[in-house]
Amino acid sequence: MKEIAIIGFGVVGGGVAALIDENAPAIRRMAGDEVHVKYILDLRDFPDSPYGDRVIHDVNILLDDPEIALVVETMGGVNPALTFSREALSRGKHVVTSNKELVAKHGKELMELAAANGAAYLYEASVGGGIPEIRSMRTSLAGDEIDAVSGILNGTTNYILTRMRDGGISFEEALAEAQELGYAEKDPSADIHGFDAQRKIMILTAVATGYIVKEEDVYTETMSRLTVADMDAAKRIGGAVRLIGSFRREGECAAISVCPRIVMNDNPLAHINDVYNGVAVTGRLTGDVLYYGRGAGRYPTAGSVIADIIAAFSGAYKCESHPTWEAAPAGFVKDFAESSCRMYIRVSGSRAEIQESAALLFGDVEILDASPAGKTEFITPVLAERVIREAMPSLPGSVESAVRML
Ligand code: HSE
Repeated sequence: MKEIAIIGFGVVGGGVAALIDENAPAIRRMAGDEVHVKYILDLRDFPDSPYGDRVIHDVNILLDDPEIALVVETMGGVNPALTFSREALSRGKHVVTSNKELVAKHGKELMELAAANGAAYLYEASVGGGIPEIRSMRTSLAGDEIDAVSGILNGTTNYILTRMRDGGISFEEALAEAQELGYAEKDPSADIHGFDAQRKIMILTAVATGYIVKEEDVYTETMSRLTVADMDAAKRIGGAVRLIGSFRREGECAAISVCPRIVMNDNPLAHINDVYNGVAVTGRLTGDVLYYGRGAGRYPTAGSVIADIIAAFSGAYKCESHPTWEAAPAGFVKDFAESSCRMYIRVSGSRAEIQESAALLFGDVEILDASPAGKTEFITPVLAERVIREAMPSLPGSVESAVRML
């Protein structure tokens, strides 16, 4: 029998306990032994839960118990999850987590601690909920160089963007709807300002390259300024606005960002709607691989945690690439101002007023038809971000919106 503890008995932690019971025969077969939840650490009591009698409030009980072979950390946040994970790993206990903030900020240290103590630190549930992209990249794609990852990594914002486009409602209305449905938190900042997706693209970059980058090196832009006019423009262009987390190798460097982008309809990411997530991975030899599924939620995320528990107990984790991460060398992340793309720009002013200046400033621009009254919309050719930013203030009208094309 393998005894485990769950720290943080919220939506995901509760799902893990329930799935361990529900899928006991399959888990026993794959993990090589029965897995049993001995303790649940939480600040609260759960008198009505079937697991209520296993709830403890003192972490030392599980840390000091030699029977506990693995700790599931579903607390979220850095503290005290970091301290608890460090303590568990240094006692040789495996740690399995869904905590993307902790993995992005302290995963390197925790993986090294795990390796030094003959344990595993596994994090499949930290990105993309139930989508099995991390283990797949670390095993099935391990023979290839991964040159790019772009993804819809945040379900809350994808729901908001879908509703703005299909329902014609404002950002504020769509956010309120997402909150009512329980998709967005009361304080939605981490989702809408891109920090949640930033942590996820940091993790996926590390899975792809073995290098963990600093969060301040990842250009991250809010999606809260987007309007229904942006959604309509994207539709007319033949695409959809999506919040895209992106990593792309460029020689010895990488371009890494999180920002809204117009994704053209020939890209499958344009068709990923509502709270679903999608991750497109480009292998140098393999070409494009697409993962799609539920990026959050009790059972999808708990299922990823269970897969990590099985990998830890079966020893399968020892055959995965990049068991530890290195800090990315200086200069690895390219200055975002030097990255290039086409940009959709909407300016106040008539076509007659804007067209000539736009062509002088940006070159071969594509002027859009059917723009809203009093506005001119155009798409620049591929130019460096710096060039576009420097030229925009010289347009004769004020810039109402600028959205990068993927
Ligand atoms: N807030 C996150 C999202 C939860 O909306 O995708 C899953 O990480």
